[in-house]
Amino acid sequence: MSSTGRSIPATIAAVVVLLGGVSRGFSAAPDAQPLRSPAFRLKGTDRCVKCHRSEQGDWCDVATTSAWRHDAHSRAHLALSPDNERTRAMEQALGIKAAETASCIACHTHSIDEPPIEEETNVLHAGISCETCHGAGSGYLEPHLEKSWRFLSSAEKQAFGMHDLRNPIAKAQNCLSCHLGEVATGRIITHQMYAAGHPPLPAFEMEAFSAGMGPHWKRVWEKSPKIQQLAAEAHYETEGASELERSLVGALVALRETARLVNDYANVTENDAKDHPWPELALYDCQACHHELAVPSWRQEVGYGRLVPGRPSLVRWPRRLAAVAFAEAGLPIDVDALLEPFVAVLNRRPFGTADGLRQAADAGAESFAQIDRAIEVLTRWQRDDTLAAREQAATTRIAAAGRAVGDFDSARILAWALTHGLANADAWPQDMRSEKIAELSRLLLLGFPTPAYPVPPSPEKPFWQTSLTAAPDADIARVRKAFELPPAEKPAPGIEVIPPPVAR
Ligand code: HEC
Ligand code: HEC
Ligand code: HEC
Ligand code: HEC
Ligand code: HEC
Repeated sequence: MSSTGRSIPATIAAVVVLLGGVSRGFSAAPDAQPLRSPAFRLKGTDRCVKCHRSEQGDWCDVATTSAWRHDAHSRAHLALSPDNERTRAMEQALGIKAAETASCIACHTHSIDEPPIEEETNVLHAGISCETCHGAGSGYLEPHLEKSWRFLSSAEKQAFGMHDLRNPIAKAQNCLSCHLGEVATGRIITHQMYAAGHPPLPAFEMEAFSAGMGPHWKRVWEKSPKIQQLAAEAHYETEGASELERSLVGALVALRETARLVNDYANVTENDAKDHPWPELALYDCQACHHELAVPSWRQEVGYGRLVPGRPSLVRWPRRLAAVAFAEAGLPIDVDALLEPFVAVLNRRPFGTADGLRQAADAGAESFAQIDRAIEVLTRWQRDDTLAAREQAATTRIAAAGRAVGDFDSARILAWALTHGLANADAWPQDMRSEKIAELSRLLLLGFPTPAYPVPPSPEKPFWQTSLTAAPDADIARVRKAFELPPAEKPAPGIEVIPPPVAR
């Protein structure tokens, strides 16, 4: 590699200095809102597509545009048309026009008025476009054509307005801003929308959803040996070492983002209780309320952790996989203890108070920094000769967590993660791995597109997320059994045997 390959051109260096580093801290998402930054303007999808309809050299050797055209995102704006039956029903129930409603627009396409569009282009008709995910292009369009661009760090790319989505942290944050919600960008899904007919947003596991959208990229480890060599000399140590480890990073980011969402919503509700009333039920675990009355129930069996029995919990699906991620990172962090400040507020009174939860987020900022520490450990790992042993350990831990699972969403997250682990784990026979993957996919409906309401509501199955009855013959015992792994044929050196976690 030539030395010029890595030097930053003067213009690039100047902008990096001008804009400074990336902001950090609990309530300021480092990567949240460059789209709204006044520094950058949209160039329009037409521009990106002009070049990216074919491969762009050896570095980007995928024809992006055709993949994106087949991806649900390129059509996401169509969901806001009254031609969509579900939307028509929502419009009637809520008394709105979806195509003119800021929050619908924020998640389904670009905002109409922000950021400013530099060139004549019909953004609203481009669904979720290149620039919605990669960032508004005015700052990076020119510089990103230079080969030196490849070797900039995430923060340097960010300073030009490009989200470095190869970085699993930036990527998870980007996906979750819509697939979970984000106050800073106005991407807030409400219980009113759900009750009016919006499909429940499925629990989000980053790598399965990446595959589900139809990737228009290759990972560095899938590219040519020459590119891998170049990348090893540059900043790609932040890419993550495997699907499974990227999935664990995604779970930690999801845990952090659920806490951030509560914190940020608690802030807006104080200033604007009319449009953002408290409590917003969509911030809580759907199944806390939408469930059958059964005694005994899986809730009683797995227990309430530190929460007073019968109180709605905050969204819970990121917790189990995040617990595995902490263990893999070698950090002795108990997720329940981490969330203790929030739980204490929920225990004082049902739903807590906005003020209380905001203070809990502030009080917990120190312990939330531990999430970032775990993320740092995991993203520093390499594709070296310890990869197989690390993956085997993580796969074993995930399976153990699955054997104690209670709710549908957590089971699904763990199952998706397990499939990434099993895909490469040759410590177990191939037949067994394929069978496990098929069984979990069938029971927990892991395929894409995800079914919005797999089982029509009926007296027997009143709400699809209520219990593990998503597939006709899925029940909790069967799902837990599907997580059982036989002993590995080739135990990896130095891997301890992990007992199933104590149910919570
Ligand atoms: C004039 C042609 C051209 C246009 C227009 C263009 N690109 Fe690119 N893009 C390229 C080339 C060439 C590369 C590969 C550069 C290299 O070899 O390092 C690239 C690389 C990229 C990458 C990978 C960057 C990285 O850090 O590895 C992304 C993401 C990207 N382009 C997105 C976009 C988006 C979004 C737009 C529209 C705002 C756009 N491009 C417009 C030619 C173009
Ligand atoms: C927080 C982001 C967010 C907000 C706000 C939001 N949506 Fe969605 N919407 C999504 C996501 C993500 C999906 C896909 C869910 C999945 O994976 O099945 C979706 C799916 C849909 C679907 C089903 C898919 C289809 O094409 O038929 C419709 C219809 C829809 N949204 C309409 C709306 C309307 C109308 C509003 C405003 C009242 C709205 N959405 C607000 C994120 C959002
Ligand atoms: C829903 C979000 C999303 C949309 C929309 C999107 N991208 Fe991407 N793109 C990504 C992510 C995420 C990655 C990196 C994934 C990874 O490495 O895990 C990526 C990677 C790329 C790359 C790098 C390819 C490689 O092999 O290194 C290019 C180039 C690119 N995108 C261009 C585009 C263009 C052009 C469009 C519009 C036609 C577009 N993207 C639309 C999310 C998106
Ligand atoms: C604190 C309790 C609570 C939580 C948490 C909650 N809901 Fe609801 N939900 C309700 C109530 C109460 C109704 C109105 C029921 C009625 O009209 O009988 C309702 C109605 C609904 C409806 C209309 C259909 C029906 O069964 O009445 C849907 C769909 C819905 N909720 C989805 C969700 C989703 C998705 C979540 C999680 C993101 C959620 N809810 C979280 C209490 C809750
Ligand atoms: C700007 C908001 C936004 C961002 C950012 C975003 N999505 Fe989406 N995504 C949506 C919406 C809205 C839909 C539903 C589109 C429809 O069906 O109408 C969707 C649909 C999907 C689907 C198909 C859903 C299903 O249940 O079958 C997948 C998979 C997906 N997104 C993955 C991703 C991934 C991975 C990322 C990050 C790289 C991402 N999305 C980023 C808004 C977004």
